[in-house]
Amino acid sequence: MRTTVLIVAAGSGSRLQAGVPKALVTLSDGHTMLEHCLDSVVAARDAGAIDLHAIAVVVPGDPDTATSLETVCHAFAARTAVTVQTVPGGAERADSVRAGLAAVRTLAGSAGSAGGPFGRHALLVHDAARPFVPPAVFGAVVTALESGTAAVVPAVEVVDTIKTVAGAGPEEVTGTLQRTQLRAVQTPQGFDLTSLEAAHRLAEEGAGGAAALTDDAMAMEAAGHRVSVVTGDPLGFKITTQLDLMLANALLASGTS
Ligand code: C5P
Repeated sequence: MRTTVLIVAAGSGSRLQAGVPKALVTLSDGHTMLEHCLDSVVAARDAGAIDLHAIAVVVPGDPDTATSLETVCHAFAARTAVTVQTVPGGAERADSVRAGLAAVRTLAGSAGSAGGPFGRHALLVHDAARPFVPPAVFGAVVTALESGTAAVVPAVEVVDTIKTVAGAGPEEVTGTLQRTQLRAVQTPQGFDLTSLEAAHRLAEEGAGGAAALTDDAMAMEAAGHRVSVVTGDPLGFKITTQLDLMLANALLASGTS
């Protein structure tokens, strides 16, 4: 199934406090987080896990950062012969995804597939902040899309006990969720493009607005779609804090990634 990947890389990385936007943070091997993320997509292609059509990368609106990330994308495109298009993002992740969807719609139009642009075409939405996703996870997501599902997420089991809390100031526990029913959800998440576009429009018009969306499957759930789950991988972790960055660098040093 021809696959277009939408990478959202427009976050500021404020929780990482690295002094540069997260996608531009350089890991211990001298490569930026975005380069690693792009390389993981092409590794999935080379492993035969996905039939890659193109990549859209959503970059920050700030011109200096955008130029730096565009340079990374152009070098990657020249090295791999993959079509890469960049597009400016928005204030919230959901805004960036919506900006990216417009670019993907254009890119997919050139796929030349029968039955409309996305008649037989997969869309994967992926965080640039997850640089080490193995090819098998990309493959599992696309395989689920091929079986006809409109939405699919990779997920791993939760190790902590998760409680709900309430109260300003000192919080109080209001409940404990059954851990066996919980999953930590990663990216790439796979979708039918038309359904995801409609779900994002609906979320934008809804009470919480699109800002309340922390992933794209949430929009699909709210629109009434079933969301399938496939097995994720611990290496699909998201780099959010300095501790995550230390883990990423330790993995590179040990040759695990
Ligand atoms: O903020 P969070 O950790 O959820 O970000 C996940 C991904 O979404 C990151 O790759 C980040 O660059 C991206 N993002 C974005 N635009 C935003 C906020 C986050 O593209 N406004």
